[in-house]
Amino acid sequence: MGHNRLCKLLGIKYPIIQAPMNWVSGADLVAAVSNAGGLGTLGPNAGAENITSDVELTGERMRAQIKKVRRLSQAPFAVNIVVGVGEDMTYSKKIVDVVIEEAVPVAIVSVGRPDIYTDVLKAAGVKVLHAISTARHGQKAERAGVDAVVCEGFEAGGHKGFTELTTLTLTPMVADAVDVPVIAGGGIGDARSVLAIMALGADGIYMGTRFMVTHESESHPRVKAAIVNTRDVCTISVPKDYMLARDLINDFTKQYLGLKKAGASNSELSTFLNDHSQYHSQHLGKADNSEICCGQVAGLINDVKGAGEVVEDVVGGIAKRFEELKARLGCLL
Ligand SMILES: Cc1cc2nc3c(=O)[nH]c(=O)nc-3n(C[C@H](O)[C@H](O)[C@H](O)COP(=O)(O)O)c2cc1C
Repeated sequence: MGHNRLCKLLGIKYPIIQAPMNWVSGADLVAAVSNAGGLGTLGPNAGAENITSDVELTGERMRAQIKKVRRLSQAPFAVNIVVGVGEDMTYSKKIVDVVIEEAVPVAIVSVGRPDIYTDVLKAAGVKVLHAISTARHGQKAERAGVDAVVCEGFEAGGHKGFTELTTLTLTPMVADAVDVPVIAGGGIGDARSVLAIMALGADGIYMGTRFMVTHESESHPRVKAAIVNTRDVCTISVPKDYMLARDLINDFTKQYLGLKKAGASNSELSTFLNDHSQYHSQHLGKADNSEICCGQVAGLINDVKGAGEVVEDVVGGIAKRFEELKARLGCLL
C-alpha cells in the first residue's frame, strides 16, 4: 500500500484514480488499472450492449460487471454513482443497493448532492469519494461526511457544472478549503501533469481521457483513433440545459452548436442529443457525427496503450520530471 493518506484510505499503491466514463470504463479497464496499483472505476453502461430505461436491468448489468472485476482482480476498485435529480434518482438508488449488496469498497458519487447517499454508503462500509466543482461544494461534501472529494477542472472531458474554473485554480482552492483528501483531475495525461497537480495540493489524481485511449477501454477503435489523430485545439465546451460538457470537436459539435445558435428549442436539442449520444460514438463507432466526451489532454495523446502501461509510465516518469523541475527551480531556491 502507498504511503500517502489517500492510498491508505483506499488501500491502493499509487494515488492514481481512473475516472468513471459512460460507455467506456468497463470491467477490463477497471481491473487493469487496479492490478497496476491505481484505482479503477466502473462507469455507467459498463459492459452494456444497448440503451435501456429499465432500472432493474441497469442495476443487474452493474452487478455482473462488479463480479467480472472480482474475477480479474483482487485489488480495490470503485463504482460510479451518478445521483441525478427527480425521476432519475431511481437509477442511482438501484446502483447504491447493488454497491452495498456486493460490498464494493469505494463509490465515486457525482452529479448530485452529497447528503443523499453518503450516510447509507458509509454505514455499509463503502468509502465515499464525492465529485465537486467549487471549494464551497467541497466544504458541503465534507460536512456531509464524505471520505474524500474529487475536483474536476474546466479542461476535463465529460459533463461538469457551469463553473469554468480550471484545474490550476480549482485544485488549490479546494485543497485550502477542506481537510479530507483531495483528488484532482482535468487535463492529466502523464508524469508532468501529475507532478503539477500534486504540487497544487492534491493527494491523488483523477484521469479519464488518457485511460479512454487504452486497449482495455470499451471505447470504439474509431473513437480512440480520432483522439490519437487530433492535435492542439481539439475539444470544445458544449452547453446543455443541465450542464456544460467537454467534447471532441467533430460534425456533432458543429451541428449541435449550430442548432443552439439558430435558437432550437430545448426539446429539439434534447432529441438531437439522444440521437447522437455517446452510445452512438463509443459503442457503435459513429465517431464523426455523435458526441464524444473528451478532455483537452486529447491533444497530447499520441498512442493507444495498455492501461497498466499508462500507470507505469506516470509512476516511472515522476523521478525524472522531479529532477528536471528542481533544476529549473534552482534559481528560486
Ligand atoms: C468519455 C467520458 C465519459 C465520462 N462519463 C462520466 C460519467 O459517466 N460519470 C462521471 O462522474 N464522470 C464522467 N466523465 C468525467 C470523468 O470522470 C473525469 O472527470 C474526466 O475525464 C477527467 O478529465 P480528463 O478527461 O481530462 O482526464 C466522463 C469523461 C469522459 C472523457
